[in-house]
Amino acid sequence: MSLQDKVEKNVGLLIILTMLTVSVGGLVEIVPLYFQKTTTEPVEGLEPYSALELTGRDIYVREGCYNCHSQMIRPFRAETERYGHYSVAGEFVYDRPFQWGSKRTGPDLARVGGRYSDDWHRVHMINPRDVVPESIMPGYPWLADTPADSSDIVKKMSVLRTLGAPYSDEELESAVAQLEGKTELDAMIAYLQRLGTVIKNRR
Ligand code: HEC
Repeated sequence: MSLQDKVEKNVGLLIILTMLTVSVGGLVEIVPLYFQKTTTEPVEGLEPYSALELTGRDIYVREGCYNCHSQMIRPFRAETERYGHYSVAGEFVYDRPFQWGSKRTGPDLARVGGRYSDDWHRVHMINPRDVVPESIMPGYPWLADTPADSSDIVKKMSVLRTLGAPYSDEELESAVAQLEGKTELDAMIAYLQRLGTVIKNRR
């Protein structure tokens, strides 16, 4: 009986050898990424999210915006012509959890920062059809009436600091004050306006 026959007729051995092969393949692909600076270090000029932006980001997650919007521009011409420079790993080192997504019912938002005015976003978030008549995006009018929650912002930021976000003590101390008088909509707009702005190269 050849070696191949033996392996194919012994299910236990087949499973073990298959797992071994697959894990070697996985290790070879994944392990080097941990040691490549371009995948582990922030791109130049990248700052962790401010208290207001971070609050907006959490509302983005809460409202499930990722169900319709990705935040990752792939390195294809059709994408870079439309959205700008493709996304690079170093832009996302402070994103926990990342919002890359894979569903694009709406446009990719990775570089939406600075594309529209705050006022445009304000109108669009309350009722998208007021600025884009054919839009199928739902409105989020309650964001404008709900005060931004500052009760756990310091805790959130200090957890992120433990995980590597370089917040200063002053930033933690002023976090609650930064949210004072702000609505959830203000926070969302601050977050959207910052997306992708570190790499501005649009072509
Ligand atoms: C049911 C799918 C759906 C959901 C959920 C959704 N959107 Fe949209 N969004 C769209 C569509 C479709 C468009 C394109 C038409 C338009 O501009 O309204 C869009 C457009 C946008 C734009 C303008 C992008 C551009 O480059 O023109 C922004 C910003 C945006 N959405 C933010 C959000 C945020 C923030 C949330 C969560 C609070 C959200 N969307 C939830 C479908 C969705």
